[in-house]
Amino acid sequence: MDQFTGRPRLPKFAVPKSYDIRLKPDLVAHRFAGSVAVNLDIVAATSFIVLNAAELSVANDAVSFTVQGSSKVVSIFHLFPTTSCSSVSSVADENYLCLSVCLSMQVLKPSRVELFENDEILVLEFPEAIPIGLGVLFIRFEGILNDRMKGFYRSTYEHNGEKKTMAVTQFEPADARRCFPCWDEPACKATFKITLDVPSELVALSNMPVVDEKTDGNLKTVSYQESPIMSTYLVAVVVGLFDYVEDHTSSGVKVRVYCQVGKANQGKFALHVAVRTLELYEDYFETPYTLPKLDMIAIPDFAAGAMENYGLVTYRETDMLYDDQHSAAANKQRVATVVAHELAHQWFGNLVTMEWWTHLWLNEGFATWVSYLATDSLFPEWKIWSQFLHESTEGLRLDGLAESHPIEVEINHACEIDEIFDAISYRKGASVIRMLQSYLGAKCFQSSLASYIKRHACSNAKTEDLWAALEEGSGEPVNTLMTSWTKQKGYPVVSVKINDQKLEFNQSQFLSSGAQGEGHWIVPITLCFGSYDVRKNFLLQTKSETRDTGFYRVKYDELLAARLRYAVEKQLLSASDRFGVLDDSYALCMARQESLTSLINLMGSYREEVDYTVLSNLITISLKVGCIAADAVPELLDYFKQFFINLFQYSAERLGWDPKPGESHLDAMLRGEILTALAVFGHDLTLDEASKRFHAFLEDRNTPLFPPDIRKATYVAVMHRASKSNRVGYDSLLKIYRETDLSQEKTRILGSLASSRDPDLIHEALNFMLSSEVRSQDAVFGLAVNREGRDVAWRWLKENWEHLTKTYGSGFLITRFVSAVVSPFASFEKAKEIEEFFAAHATPSIARTLKQSLERVNINANWVQSIQKENKLADAVKELAHRKY
Ligand code: BES
Ligand code: ZN
Repeated sequence: MDQFTGRPRLPKFAVPKSYDIRLKPDLVAHRFAGSVAVNLDIVAATSFIVLNAAELSVANDAVSFTVQGSSKVVSIFHLFPTTSCSSVSSVADENYLCLSVCLSMQVLKPSRVELFENDEILVLEFPEAIPIGLGVLFIRFEGILNDRMKGFYRSTYEHNGEKKTMAVTQFEPADARRCFPCWDEPACKATFKITLDVPSELVALSNMPVVDEKTDGNLKTVSYQESPIMSTYLVAVVVGLFDYVEDHTSSGVKVRVYCQVGKANQGKFALHVAVRTLELYEDYFETPYTLPKLDMIAIPDFAAGAMENYGLVTYRETDMLYDDQHSAAANKQRVATVVAHELAHQWFGNLVTMEWWTHLWLNEGFATWVSYLATDSLFPEWKIWSQFLHESTEGLRLDGLAESHPIEVEINHACEIDEIFDAISYRKGASVIRMLQSYLGAKCFQSSLASYIKRHACSNAKTEDLWAALEEGSGEPVNTLMTSWTKQKGYPVVSVKINDQKLEFNQSQFLSSGAQGEGHWIVPITLCFGSYDVRKNFLLQTKSETRDTGFYRVKYDELLAARLRYAVEKQLLSASDRFGVLDDSYALCMARQESLTSLINLMGSYREEVDYTVLSNLITISLKVGCIAADAVPELLDYFKQFFINLFQYSAERLGWDPKPGESHLDAMLRGEILTALAVFGHDLTLDEASKRFHAFLEDRNTPLFPPDIRKATYVAVMHRASKSNRVGYDSLLKIYRETDLSQEKTRILGSLASSRDPDLIHEALNFMLSSEVRSQDAVFGLAVNREGRDVAWRWLKENWEHLTKTYGSGFLITRFVSAVVSPFASFEKAKEIEEFFAAHATPSIARTLKQSLERVNINANWVQSIQKENKLADAVKELAHRKY
């Protein structure tokens, strides 16, 4: 049997065609019982059936295989007693066998049934070869309704003051096997017929609409329509108490948003976005939504942001519920983009599925890109495509590491999959699609995509299949062009020089460490002449030759740089170019190819900036520069802070604290970010005003002085002044945390609790994150520690490592802890210390993240050293700190 272990993919002897699954969760005992009948096509002579299963108990006598020859089985019934869960296992196989015998079929019993937990496979050995052709595999099993937010798990909520449990599934990437034995690979598509036995008072949802419901005392048996063919990771079930709001698309799809009882109103915004985006995607992909209904539901304990289960999309509460009174503009935008992202998957991912996890980016990169398209069409005033630039920087930063990985990444074990739901798959993936779309043109891109969807509907596709469709549609060498972006990691920095009245282009791989990489790309470049109205596209194919947007950086020579500073100040550049000039300069500075002196001089020219995205990135960069300066030149730190405070004064005055009647969504978001930055830099007037408004709120929860967009900033400001001996602010925040039932408010508070400068209070806040009062998915928000909290956070991580690995196990949440705590350090000694700790404590599921985080620490350490050698820095920052505008 060992021949089947240690392999990344299942052997291909048996192909599942349809599943008939019955599940009976026990919400009190936290267990479930189930059975599955799988119609199989045995395609090669074998005496083994190998499929996935994990954390399930399967008794030897709970498995049988019915040979069907070439006739198709109509349906297999697995009979459950209708009483308690525990007695399910005692159901006699005879009921089922009897049916088989009546149809005079041959029933085979396995001679061995073995579950290999490490490989998550169930190996069934039969005494003789299984005949080629059709057959039905029947398995009864039991499992635990776990609390780890994957597989079939439990989540808790309150209803009328009473604690309740709901049952939920989360199967992506490879956890369907924790709920029922199956061929748990995206290419093994089949149809699913699901039946649930649940307490009769609960709402029970699955991918498809209900076809039958029978109540028997306290229990009901709910059966759902058979699904179209789909992958196992998209199967879903939710059982609990919920209210809903409902609407229909113009083509008649019934859309519902399920919420906590009493909160249906908070589902209305997501419902509106869902209906509109479904219509939009039907149009864009030229393909109808394939299921009769779409349900969306908020789950209190939820590891990811949301999950695109076919016809039953699950969300974190913060990413689906929107409250008119208490949600901030940023929350609203998040809900819209998350809904648009998950619904894009209904086509890109669910209808056409990646062939293997190597092509995960096709799902995630594409859904990310198209969610901007949809959001832009619904809310053009949000200028979401500009914001796209800021979000892509996360991809650029990660991909600037030697420890990055190509978009198409080899996967050899299920435990490696979680780590690639990262900024490369999402951000770089979306960016290269955007780059290609702008090169091919919107219309040509859309029609080629529609033909890709039609061609691969109900099937699987690889990256090459997408390129083939685009190549056919455009006549351009898409495959060659894009392979350079998806099969090699990293990206180029394109240098531009004026040489003899001509522009000269050079490319070389950009690495944040400053090292020279070997990579070489085909780079689409747009040249703009005069005032942007004359444009010319070309492909930079070789290392050196003569920008719209793309996944690359641009380095300008000194002469061009000085002209750019002037152009920024005089607002002669477009917002996306003002963004690019700044971000490229920051990245080059970190890579020690440009001085910090020159970066801060450039930053100084952005004082009167008004564009949201440019300012938002200016804030991000200021915060990072503030940290690195504190390490490199602590004696100049106050000047740096003063400079940043100056830099944001113009915007702070323009925006104020109170919403202006009719102001834009972007101004509302910007106000929060500017005030938060000023609080972090310790701007006294901001801290005073925050304190005043916080007290007004403590006195009166309905005070008009405390609109949602300034809350996070206020909380950060309150914590900035709090310490162990002056802890009123901290305690008041905890009080608000405990009293609110709005998850967004809770996360705002968690995200600010560790913003104190007192290590002891930070430690207390970090410990609070692990208390039973914080849902385990939310603890990472608390790691938003400032530089003063870096060492405490590291100590805390070590103290709690065992607990953390137990709670977050494999899963991707553990990687967030590692990168948040490790990456901010900036010394070689610390890198070594961290490496030593993890040499004894690392698990394979954090391997990649740990290497990346350590590389960041080394990059920071080198950066510190080079900053210390700059001799014009002190004068420059003093001048900027005192500059009167
Ligand atoms: N398919 C993912 C959910 C997921 C993530 C499952 C990681 C398993 C592991 C979903 O479509 C997704 O991408 N969700 C995002 C939100 C989105 C708007 C970027 C998330 O969870 O953050
Ligand atoms: Zn996604």
